[in-house]
Amino acid sequence: MRILTILLKNCTLGKQVDYYSRFSPSPLSIKQFLDFGSENACERTSFMFLRQELPVRLANIMKEINLLPDNLLKTPSVRLVQSWYMQSLQEILDFKDKSGEDEKVIYDFTDTVIKIRNRHNDVIPTMAQGVVEYKDGYGVDPISSQNLQYFLDRFYMSRISIRMLLNQHTLLFGGKVKVNPAHPKQIGSIDPNCQVVEVIKDAYENARRLCDLYYMNSPELKIEEFNAKERGKPTTIVYVPSHLYHMVFELFKNAMRATMEYHGDTSSYPPINVQVALGSEDLTVKMSDRGGGVPLRKIDRLFTYTYSTAPLPHMETSRATPLAGFGYGLPISRLYARYFQGDLKLYSLEGYGTDAVIYIKALSTESIERLPVYNKSAWRHYKTSHEADDWCIPSKEPKDMTTFRSF
Ligand SMILES: Nc1ncnc2c1ncn2[C@@H]1O[C@H](COP(=O)(O)OP(=O)(O)OP(=O)(O)O)[C@@H](O)[C@H]1O
Ligand SMILES: [Mg+2]
Repeated sequence: MRILTILLKNCTLGKQVDYYSRFSPSPLSIKQFLDFGSENACERTSFMFLRQELPVRLANIMKEINLLPDNLLKTPSVRLVQSWYMQSLQEILDFKDKSGEDEKVIYDFTDTVIKIRNRHNDVIPTMAQGVVEYKDGYGVDPISSQNLQYFLDRFYMSRISIRMLLNQHTLLFGGKVKVNPAHPKQIGSIDPNCQVVEVIKDAYENARRLCDLYYMNSPELKIEEFNAKERGKPTTIVYVPSHLYHMVFELFKNAMRATMEYHGDTSSYPPINVQVALGSEDLTVKMSDRGGGVPLRKIDRLFTYTYSTAPLPHMETSRATPLAGFGYGLPISRLYARYFQGDLKLYSLEGYGTDAVIYIKALSTESIERLPVYNKSAWRHYKTSHEADDWCIPSKEPKDMTTFRSF
């Protein structure tokens, strides 16, 4: 009887997933997040919006999870992630017919949002574990590998966006007071005057602490600022400081590790140079290290979810959080940059060092969420077999010129 009830519940939930996945998610701009939070932050309006938008975002990505290879879907980790998504969707849908006028409903909804956010805390490592189990168990060909990369980029981007919505709601309405005591000037997680250099210095200090623990030394930081909008004034943008922090912290860890390893036998290390420039369209942060660089052939590979040159960290034995290990630093940081229409790129001079560049939109009206949508083209991406390359593959050995004589 119990099994029958569960089956029935899953079947109705499946129909809801189909239904909500037919809607496209509605991307918001930072300006919209800000206007909503600052002027007329109304818990009821947020409730009405989230009760529709969260199921749409959840259902869109749940449809894509279903397109993963069977053997990956069968891993306990991916099953667990799927069960979290199902449960969270169900919990939001339970509010579908409830009145937005009822204060108790609004209160319970905020409680549910907090519960969902906590439930999904470990999605990234759990999904990553599933991928490792699948790769170890079955091995992956280049096509499946490409599909996995395509999926993980979209899946983690969807998660960033869902967390942004959940965070805004809980930070604005979760406590008794609307202001965040740790950051009173922020509107939820957004800082209308995010001091770029301060965030960078903070990330540097924390990365440096890890570096000192691991290598007993660390490179210095040199920072230059070019504010073309307001000359001589500190560079500020309207942004989510925790996103900027995440990106620069990851880049600092990489730059420090490369510098320390490349100059291992000396006692003085070249500094890490950071340049911050604010123009009318872009805020650009360039971090340059002299850690020996990476050959061009490998640059794309660094953004794949399974690439790391560091040994896998052992959580039980490591003295502190290691400086590198899982290979998620760059791909996830690039998603944070792209989430609000920016980007993250690496330019390397092999034998010398690497420049990592973060681009962020300078205007909050142009910082609009970049969201995956489940549609025919997404579906086709997983289903069509990729055709042969339309460029010649160079042979390893130069051809013996005598073979051309017959022409
Ligand atoms: N500035 C750099 N100079 C040289 N190599 C780099 C640099 N940044 C990244 N790499 C290379 O790219 C790989 C992937 O970087 P990524 O940050 O994605 O993962 P990771 O540092 O190995 O692990 P983690 O998930 O802890 O960040 C690194 O292992 C390193 O080999
Ligand atoms: Mg890293």
